[in-house]
Amino acid sequence: MNIAVLGYGTVGSGVVEIIDKKEVRLCAEDLAVTRILDLRDFPEDPHQSILTKRFEDILEDDSIRVVVEAMGGVNPAFDFTYRCLAAGKHVVTSNKELVATKGLELLALAEEKNVNYLFEASVGGGIPIIRPLSICLAGNKINRINGILNGTTNFILTKMFREGASFEDALKVAQANGYAEANPTADVEGIDACRKISILSSLSFGSYVDPKDIATEGITKITAVDVAYAEDAGCVIKLIGTAEQLPNGKQHVQVSPALVAKDTLLGSVDGVYNAVAVNGSNVGDTFYFGAGAGKLPTASACVADVIDCVNHDKERRLMGWGPAKEGILADAATLPMVYYVRLAGKVDTGALGNVKVLHRPDEADETAFLTEPVSKNDLLAKLDAAGLPAPTALIRMASC
Ligand code: HSE
Repeated sequence: MNIAVLGYGTVGSGVVEIIDKKEVRLCAEDLAVTRILDLRDFPEDPHQSILTKRFEDILEDDSIRVVVEAMGGVNPAFDFTYRCLAAGKHVVTSNKELVATKGLELLALAEEKNVNYLFEASVGGGIPIIRPLSICLAGNKINRINGILNGTTNFILTKMFREGASFEDALKVAQANGYAEANPTADVEGIDACRKISILSSLSFGSYVDPKDIATEGITKITAVDVAYAEDAGCVIKLIGTAEQLPNGKQHVQVSPALVAKDTLLGSVDGVYNAVAVNGSNVGDTFYFGAGAGKLPTASACVADVIDCVNHDKERRLMGWGPAKEGILADAATLPMVYYVRLAGKVDTGALGNVKVLHRPDEADETAFLTEPVSKNDLLAKLDAAGLPAPTALIRMASC
């Protein structure tokens, strides 16, 4: 079976390497990469004869049945994917931005053309999570997902807090290892994790959740002071993506830093590793862990999708979602959660109900505490009514 790869960067070159190594299993046919598209030159690369700068060399080659799109970004990845699907080729992608923004349209086209558009590598790098949600857990209503969905930020947070590295130095190492996005703002501001929770939520709950409607906050405001207070609460701080079905039929979908109890599975996930905790109505709690970024882990998920296309060349995998539902998302600021709060000055927390005051070594003129479950809006109103200052830090606690 002839395969083409669009984009010869970190993931694309990993796909070629895995197929060249012949480390695939359970594939009905031998795989061969016969075309690689990239605008750059790779003078030292042994694949000169199959490198091309012309997309048409792939589109018009009827021997190519599966195309791996590892370009990243929406343009020209959308145009190329659309034309490949329209031409009756299966497409496999690691491109979470494209799946999260244009997935609905591309999945519909794949259905119309009776080909597969598969995206296992788009969430959690090498971790199997798309198939577990759409196949293995299909006999469940998905109640709740909490995930560490970005390797770069988890790597940075771990290095900063376990090794005392600066944010900048930790980011540089993440970039050198090929974990970070071309523009790492998407990692540190939570945008990449937001695209991934959009995909997981759309897949799990059946209707498209647009990333731009998801409350998203990154890790740039996290300080060592907050980490020290979190430790006193028995917690670590992680960037968490949450997708949850609420009893009133609405959905809570959010990306933000969150306190996570250290003695939970999610709380112990460090470095570039990602993890997704899923609660299903019949199965209960399940947990998926592995390398969330990097060349070979992400490429391994792409290659698995290629094999699935080869083994199901004439049928379609039922993986996808329907159109967005108006008003389905709850405003995260109205939902009761436990919050970690830090305020300037030593203040009397008596007006705030039953709070747990936290301490840290070298404590300054400040007060830190965990609240009872309360909505962010109500908490801010209570602080204001009690004449207390606006918080210098306000971080939710994830219920994992
Ligand atoms: N920049 C992403 C991350 C790559 O750090 O997780 C994998 O999607």
